[in-house]
Amino acid sequence: MNGKMVSIEEPKGKLGVLIPGMGAVATTFIAGVEAIRRKLAPPIGSLTQMGTIRLGKRTDKRVPLIKDFVPLAKLDDLVFGGWDIFTDNAYDAALKAGVLERTLVESVKDRLKKIRPMPAVFEQKYVKNLHGTNIKKGKNKMHLAEQLMDDIKNFKKQNHLNRLIMIWCASTEIFIKAKPVHRSLEAFEKGLRDNNPDIAPSMIYAYAALKLGIPFANGAPNLTLDIPALMELALKNQVPVCGKDYKTGQTMMKTILAPGLKARLLGVHGWFSTNILGNRDGEVLDDPDNFKTKEESKLSVLEYILQPEVYPTLYKDLYHKVRINYYPPRGDNKEGWDNIDIFGWLGYPMQIKVDFLCRDSILAAPLVLDLILFLDLAQRCPDLARLGIQEWLSFYFKSPMAAPHLYPEHDLFIQLMKLKNTLRHLRGEELITHLGLEYYD
Ligand SMILES: NC(=O)c1ccc[n+]([C@@H]2O[C@H](COP(=O)([O-])OP(=O)(O)OC[C@H]3O[C@@H](n4cnc5c(N)ncnc54)[C@H](O)[C@@H]3O)[C@@H](O)[C@H]2O)c1
Repeated sequence: MNGKMVSIEEPKGKLGVLIPGMGAVATTFIAGVEAIRRKLAPPIGSLTQMGTIRLGKRTDKRVPLIKDFVPLAKLDDLVFGGWDIFTDNAYDAALKAGVLERTLVESVKDRLKKIRPMPAVFEQKYVKNLHGTNIKKGKNKMHLAEQLMDDIKNFKKQNHLNRLIMIWCASTEIFIKAKPVHRSLEAFEKGLRDNNPDIAPSMIYAYAALKLGIPFANGAPNLTLDIPALMELALKNQVPVCGKDYKTGQTMMKTILAPGLKARLLGVHGWFSTNILGNRDGEVLDDPDNFKTKEESKLSVLEYILQPEVYPTLYKDLYHKVRINYYPPRGDNKEGWDNIDIFGWLGYPMQIKVDFLCRDSILAAPLVLDLILFLDLAQRCPDLARLGIQEWLSFYFKSPMAAPHLYPEHDLFIQLMKLKNTLRHLRGEELITHLGLEYYD
C-alpha cells in the first residue's frame, strides 16, 4: 500500500434491496442470489463475486478477489422487496418470465413466494402496452411519493434493515426530454403537488429514494435521474446514484468490438444492428414511443467510442441503425445480429457478422448484483457519496451518467480500468498505468 486509505464504514447488518419492477430481470436476479447462497450455482458474470484486482507490480503477485479487497455486503445480508403493477409474487413472476428452469425456481420457492410486490406508482401513458391492477391511488404525485416513502420505511422496520438500495428493473418508459418542471428541486416538488404530467413514475420512485437518502440505480434508458431537480436532491443529501440502461447483449458486444476496430484504425462505413425478442420487455418496446427511449440509448455508444470528429477519415460517414422487433416465440432468449461494414488499408472493404444468441436476463442479473453491492459501498464512503453520480460504475451501463461538463466513457475496457482504479484509490493502492518501465531498471 502506498497512499492513504479512504474512509469506508464497515457493512454492518442487513441491506434492503428495493426493486421497482419485479419482472424477468428482477426475478432472475433474486432467484439467482438465493441459488448462489445455497451453493446450487456459481455467480458467473459478477465482478464483485468472481473478479480479481491486481495490486502493485506484475511481479508482486498480489491479486486478491475484489470482495476480499473492499468491504462489500455479503449475499446472506441482502433482503429483497419491490413494487409491480401485477400482483404475482417473485416465484410466480419467475415462472412466467420463463428465464430459469423450473427445477431451479422450485429449489428457492420458499424464499421467492414470500416476496410480494407492493402496489406500484404507474401511469399508462408512460408504458402503453402493459395493463396492470396493482397500482397506487393518490390525490397528486406528491401523495404517491409519500406512499412510496411509507412503503420504504415499513420495509426497513419490518425486516430490521441497516441500509437500503433502490434499483430500477421496471419497464422502459416513453421517450421524454427535460422540461421546465425538471429544472430545479423546487419546481419539481411543486410539479409533484400540481400533478404535472411531465413527471414520470420512475422519477417519483427516484425522488422518494433520494429524499430518504437511499442510493438509486437506473437500469432502464428512462430519463429519470438525468434532470437537474433530482441531481440537486442527490447532491444535497449526498446520495450515490448511477445509470443508465444495463449494458448487456448487443451493446455489450458493440463496446467490446468498436474499441478494437478503433485501436487498429480500421474504418467503419456502417453498423446495422437488429434484434428479435419475445419477453414482456419486448412487448413494451413494440410501442414506437417506448422504443425511441431504447433506441437513443443504444445509438449513443458508437459515436462516443469512435470519435468521428477526431478520426473523420475513418468514421465521419458512419451509418448506424438499430432495430428491435417483438417476436414472442423467442421469449427472453434474444437474438441480436450485427452487420458491420469496415474498411482497411487503402480503403478496401470488409465485413464482420455477429449473431449473438443471448439470454437477456441472464446477462443482466449479475450486473444488478454488482451495482447493488458497489452502490452500497459508495453510500458507506463519504468521499464517493458526496459526488452523487458514480461515474466509476459506467462499466455496467449503455448510457453512462457523467458530470454535466463531461462526455460519457463507453469503452468497456476504459470503464473497467476506471472501476478498478477507483477501488485501488479507495484502499490507498498505487493506480496501475501499465507503463512498466520499472521492470527494466
Ligand atoms: N434484460 C436486459 O438485458 C436489459 C438490459 C438493459 C435494460 N433492461 C431494462 O430493464 C428493465 C426490466 O427488463 P425485464 O426484461 O425484466 O422486463 P419485464 O417486462 O420482464 O419486467 C419489468 C416489470 O416492470 C413492471 N412495471 C412497469 N412499470 C412499472 C412501474 N411504474 N412500477 C413498478 N413496476 C412496473 C412490469 O409490470 C414488469 O413486471 C426494462 O426497462 C429493460 O429495458 C434490461
